[in-house]
Amino acid sequence: MKEVIVIGGGISGLHCAIKLAEAGVRVKLIAPHPSERAQSVMAAGGINAVLSKHDEGDSVECHIEDTLKGGSYLAGKETVTGLCRNAEEILRYLEKIGTVFTVDHEGAIAKRAFGGQSFKRTCFCGASTGKQIVSALVMEARRFEVLGRIERELWTYFHSALIRDGKCYGALVYNEKLDKIKAVYADALVMATGGQNSLFGKTTGSTQCDGYAAGQLFMQGVQLKNLEFIQYHPTTLETCQKRMLISEAVRGEGGRLFYTEHGKRIYFMEEKYGPKGNLMTRDVVSREIDKANRTGREVFLDITFIGEKEIGRRIPEVRDLCQKYRGIDISKEPIPVAPSVHFFMGGLAVHPNHETNIDNLFAVGECASIYHGANRLGGNSLLAAMYSGMVAANEIIARDFETEKVDFSAEEAKENTRLRKMKETKSQFPVMYIRDMLSDVMRQNLGIVRDEQAMKQGLADLDYYLSICDRLSFDSSVSMYINYSLKAILTLGKATILGALHRTESRGAHFRSDYPDMDEAFAYATIIAYDNGQFHISMDKEHVYEN
Ligand code: FUM
Repeated sequence: MKEVIVIGGGISGLHCAIKLAEAGVRVKLIAPHPSERAQSVMAAGGINAVLSKHDEGDSVECHIEDTLKGGSYLAGKETVTGLCRNAEEILRYLEKIGTVFTVDHEGAIAKRAFGGQSFKRTCFCGASTGKQIVSALVMEARRFEVLGRIERELWTYFHSALIRDGKCYGALVYNEKLDKIKAVYADALVMATGGQNSLFGKTTGSTQCDGYAAGQLFMQGVQLKNLEFIQYHPTTLETCQKRMLISEAVRGEGGRLFYTEHGKRIYFMEEKYGPKGNLMTRDVVSREIDKANRTGREVFLDITFIGEKEIGRRIPEVRDLCQKYRGIDISKEPIPVAPSVHFFMGGLAVHPNHETNIDNLFAVGECASIYHGANRLGGNSLLAAMYSGMVAANEIIARDFETEKVDFSAEEAKENTRLRKMKETKSQFPVMYIRDMLSDVMRQNLGIVRDEQAMKQGLADLDYYLSICDRLSFDSSVSMYINYSLKAILTLGKATILGALHRTESRGAHFRSDYPDMDEAFAYATIIAYDNGQFHISMDKEHVYEN
């Protein structure tokens, strides 16, 4: 029987595990926390699909073109075609397993308008779409747990991949309860570890998603792609804990952005881009809000005019969070909003079958860089999470794996010794302090608008932290995982800045004030490889990855 390890219990990991289990593959689903706490539950606005019965005027071809255009034509046409063609089947599957989509007056799945899309094609469950999808997938996964085909291991963190001669044999994982690292062997390893939000400190995402897996795998020889494309969501609300997402659904339901000048409201997006201005792609809207903020103007989002009843029917979760965190009644007053880091178009470079440059090592969901090019359309991430899990599963099901065994017990013992020694380290700086400094560096030097000077400063800071990171004090106030993850995260931060420095143009979410124009010489993905402490950057001119 084939055995597969899936690391991460969000939507992409769950879907991959279910598809494998359906085909009789035995899956070990490893995650630090239950799926109900995965970042996927925070996805609010919806999932894109052209539905054959109800979408007059819309077409799969149009969904493909919007996705390619939204990503500044950096994503591969064939991969995007696969994504969009499978959207309806994915939607119907989700319905079948119990996802309760919001319906229109005729009982058909309702659609809302999302940024950069020619038609209303974002299907939704109020404004808690991710949560509803996770619930349905968890129920489905439990069926296979009962049958013994999915085995879940919680409170367990990815440590590193077991790689020899370009091939993956499983993973070293750290079990928090046992305070030990152990080797887990499998025919294939599927990474479903999400984006890199907490690399940037306070964002719309989960602090669990810190990019450690990407950084660690990079140091082990896995290539990374397009790290410089970081999506700032235009509308987030400041709270003490994090930047709360004010879903694009609010603008999809008619919300209008404005600032005030001499007592008069200026609907700046509509003035500049016409009636659909509020629903331009996220990179464009974020830059306009940022521009307004830089000149001292506070930006607001007004949805009062659709009335209390419609707000309660269509976006109750947004109403509740504004009330709960800031005491704002959105049926009576506008919401103060500003952009914040939300999603990463970059990550582990994968081929269309979701395999990395290491054999039998796959990546799905946000940790994989594919489909979104230089900027992702809202509603395409849940679709990509579902689709990528399925593509990787299908590839693994179809493949014959060799049965040779490689023993990694020496690596396991070595890493356990290293962890024990880490606890004895003493220095001027504790690990958590440097982690906080890292997120300050990333936020300050890789903002919505960047330039060479700021990025070089960021690079110098990260080089310093990297030079001392093996000698930092163990921080007993945080978990062992937080302690051992620092070097990989610093390395990922450095790779991200190097990617952004290398791309001397502006495209999608990567905007450089020193190179404000798009340059056709850069109409390719950025690939970063690591070898013996050296970073190597190139452009994917041969379309080795997406095609
Ligand atoms: O605004 C939102 O609801 C976010 C959706 C997405 O990132 O796809």
